[in-house]
Amino acid sequence: MGRKFFIGGNWKCNGTTEEVKKIVTTLNEAEVPPEDVVEVVVSPPFLFLTLVKSLLRSDFHVAAQNCWVRKGGAFTGEVSAEMLVNLGIPYVILGHSERRLLLGESNDFVGDKVAYALSQGLKVIACVGETLDQRESGSTMDVVAAQTKAIADRISDWTNVVVAYEPVWAIGTGKVATPAQAQEVHSVLRKWLHANVSAEIAGSTRIIYGGSVNGANCKELAAQPDVDGFLVGGASLKPEFVDIIKSAT
Ligand code: G3P
Repeated sequence: MGRKFFIGGNWKCNGTTEEVKKIVTTLNEAEVPPEDVVEVVVSPPFLFLTLVKSLLRSDFHVAAQNCWVRKGGAFTGEVSAEMLVNLGIPYVILGHSERRLLLGESNDFVGDKVAYALSQGLKVIACVGETLDQRESGSTMDVVAAQTKAIADRISDWTNVVVAYEPVWAIGTGKVATPAQAQEVHSVLRKWLHANVSAEIAGSTRIIYGGSVNGANCKELAAQPDVDGFLVGGASLKPEFVDIIKSAT
């Protein structure tokens, strides 16, 4: 496979200047695998992006938690891809379920965002995942395929895309997907990429898991052949995030 492990930390809407500095100090002091083994990207709120970037060790990187769908302008409250590039922010998380569900971001809107962000030179962590109702009705793969198709219909170069499978029912709930559940969806997602994009992209694209990952469950999840890393929420704010990074070994 040869896919470099990817560990993302999504800090969501959390933190004060003091708390952010404390998290960065913990990360800077951590003994972790080398950068050619695991890619570590932390995603603070917009307001702390440049501070974290300025203090963070050089082998870790930062991501924004969102960006606007087109060139900046009269879009009050939005942050453009161009601004992130101008600040040297390399990654952006797009399509997170909290934005899809709370702010009504549609598959097409997320697909447009991914395409525009990539066009401006950003690397994208593109989130997909089903709700509990969708899983219980047996439509998990239909939902995840439609979300992925909305991206695939708009881009051709997947080099700078990491796909994050985040079952909504596992986010913030403590109900982590079992390794078998995660592997099943990741495997079907990779087969979807193989059938609808290309064998090469299916083989090279990292598919990471998010949803109640912690220091206790990360090892077994990381051992799954199609789990290429994690997008961690709550646990990324805690010292156990270092244990999750070490799960890459
Ligand atoms: O983006 C990652 C996030 O949605 C997962 O949150 O707190 O369940 O790890 P959490």
